[in-house]
Amino acid sequence: MIETAPRMSRVKPSPSVMASRRARELKAAGRDVIQLTSGDPDFPTPDHIKEAAIRALERNQTRYTNVDGMPELKEAIQHKFKTENGLDYSRDRIMVGTGAKQIIYNALMASVGPEDEVIIPAPYWVSYPDMVKLAAGTPVIVACPQNNGFKLRPEDLDDAITPRTKWLILNSPCNPSGAVYEPRELEALAEVLGRHPHVGVITDDIYEYLLFDGAECRTIAAVAPELQERTLTVNGVSKAYAMTGWRIGYAGGPAPLIKAMTAIQSQSTSSPSSIGQAAAVEALNGPKDFLRERLTLLRERRDLIVGLLNKAPGLSCGSPQGAIYVYPSCAGVIGKKAPGGEVIGSDGDFTLYLLDHADVAVVQGEAYGLSRHLRIEFSGKTENLRVAGERIIAACAALR
Ligand SMILES: Cc1ncc(COP(=O)(O)O)c(C=O)c1O
Repeated sequence: MIETAPRMSRVKPSPSVMASRRARELKAAGRDVIQLTSGDPDFPTPDHIKEAAIRALERNQTRYTNVDGMPELKEAIQHKFKTENGLDYSRDRIMVGTGAKQIIYNALMASVGPEDEVIIPAPYWVSYPDMVKLAAGTPVIVACPQNNGFKLRPEDLDDAITPRTKWLILNSPCNPSGAVYEPRELEALAEVLGRHPHVGVITDDIYEYLLFDGAECRTIAAVAPELQERTLTVNGVSKAYAMTGWRIGYAGGPAPLIKAMTAIQSQSTSSPSSIGQAAAVEALNGPKDFLRERLTLLRERRDLIVGLLNKAPGLSCGSPQGAIYVYPSCAGVIGKKAPGGEVIGSDGDFTLYLLDHADVAVVQGEAYGLSRHLRIEFSGKTENLRVAGERIIAACAALR
């Protein structure tokens, strides 16, 4: 029997992956479960991107590339940062990885040690705290409740910073809340950071294009250029281009950090997939008009689920400006009794109740560091969302 390493006591498997697996098991057992747990936009990769990958295969572009990404892709990323974000990154300050996830993991492994703290506003993407722990650092969770728009306030950032703070992780649009920081809010955070020159920022902009109601996504190094030398700007093709399976993410940041991240990648996974990179070049350089139609559909789906959830007794749901999730409060169902007599004591209990009694799979807010909420992904088929919303209403109405 091989014993696992002590570091394994610091991490847990991703709760959304676990919730998706449980829903799939129930489905396989014949239950009509509607699964609203994944972080996968429910669209195919656009044809022009798939065709670029096919061309790469036909050219036998099937070998290792440079560890930090092939030159054509780095050039496309450099151009994207410049033209869309107003950020100048030379090629030695850009790297490509196997998803934004690996990029963030590389960054934390390359920079965080046992003495270091990383500030993570909650609700957060589930992987941030566990990655910090894997790097032997300490996640410092700062609650950003619904009445703050699920956003980090400058005073709360200031309070959380200590001499040991290494990074602040920002994620806008946010998974799971859908909150989008406005430029003036980023300026206010940058002002605090200006007083603490030892703190860097990892900004995860993976949902950058998934915006509604005229919201704009600005990234902190563009809003506060004085922070660029201590900011890692992370992005990728997974969400905007519906390319989660292609596994390509990238970042721009300070050259020494990028070099260290590349060293870690060289000793772990090497270069990202050559075919994925060829597809990503086309994603970044090619047409983006397909997005308009998809965003219209996503907005309709968001409005549908928000409307239905607000009809469910005990739930209340705001309308997020970005990403593909709603994060309703379920505080009003806590303490109620299910028809079988069991008491709903937490958002976790409520999630189980919805799965068992309504055949709807969602993820409990506790997994994202802010309880008494649920995360519901809304990018799936409209009819499924409608049925799921109606089932949730009936399940809430059955509570006493
Ligand atoms: C906030 C956030 N960052 C990063 C990722 C991972 O992206 P990638 O597919 O590029 O690894 C996800 C995926 O769910 C996410 O929600």
